[in-house]
Amino acid sequence: MGRKIRLGVNIDHVATVRNARRTFEPDPVHAAVIADLAGADQITLHVREDRRHVNERDLKLIKGLIHSRVNLEMAVTDEMVGIALDVKPHQVTLVPEKREEVTTEGGLDVLSQKEKVREAVEKLKSAGIVVNIFIDPDREQIRAAKDVGADAVELHTGRYAEAFAENDEERVKEELDRLRDAAAFAKEIGLKVYAGHGLTFKNVKAVAEIPEIEELNIGHSIIANAILFGLEKAVREMRRLIEG
Ligand code: PXP
Repeated sequence: MGRKIRLGVNIDHVATVRNARRTFEPDPVHAAVIADLAGADQITLHVREDRRHVNERDLKLIKGLIHSRVNLEMAVTDEMVGIALDVKPHQVTLVPEKREEVTTEGGLDVLSQKEKVREAVEKLKSAGIVVNIFIDPDREQIRAAKDVGADAVELHTGRYAEAFAENDEERVKEELDRLRDAAAFAKEIGLKVYAGHGLTFKNVKAVAEIPEIEELNIGHSIIANAILFGLEKAVREMRRLIEG
């Protein structure tokens, strides 16, 4: 057995399926309970400005029901800081947010908005919330995250995941080196080191092997595989009900 890495399961895309029909199933709250029972160390969810997947109702119920940690991903806005201070998740992850993006495309640019980020970090930390910042694996951004008082940085693994999906071995190596260097630097200056975005059953291992990384947040691939693994059971059950 390797060392223990905390697994944060991101349940946003359960809500994506629910919201596609504006109905009540599948309920991300149920998904969070199942993930919790199955061994997730943390439930991660991103309440976006446009509420395109999870919303405050989901966040509050999940916070009240599950026994593992709750990690709220959120933009650096007064509205979101207010929600975090009200619900008090174990941890907040500050992320950039653009309305038109399909998912969080890059890390937060802390360097260009240090005062704004520092102010949010201070408010959240004074309420006892652990503050993590999602950033690109870049030394200057990591240094800026430390300067504004973050407890942790989550290294964006999207570029590594893209290179992996394209079978571009050279870029995979380059992106892994970038992640390794960033992880070592972040730890050296006193930050906790996490990683996430685009991680799948196939590409997760090399990232999990980076020794400084203590937490991974994974969503899309887990939910995608859950649909496929569960489909046979669901079809058989519908057939049984039809046939009586
Ligand atoms: N970490 C952060 C900060 C994210 O914004 C996301 C996507 O919501 C993830 C991890 C999970 O990414 P994925 O769904 O690609 O596993």
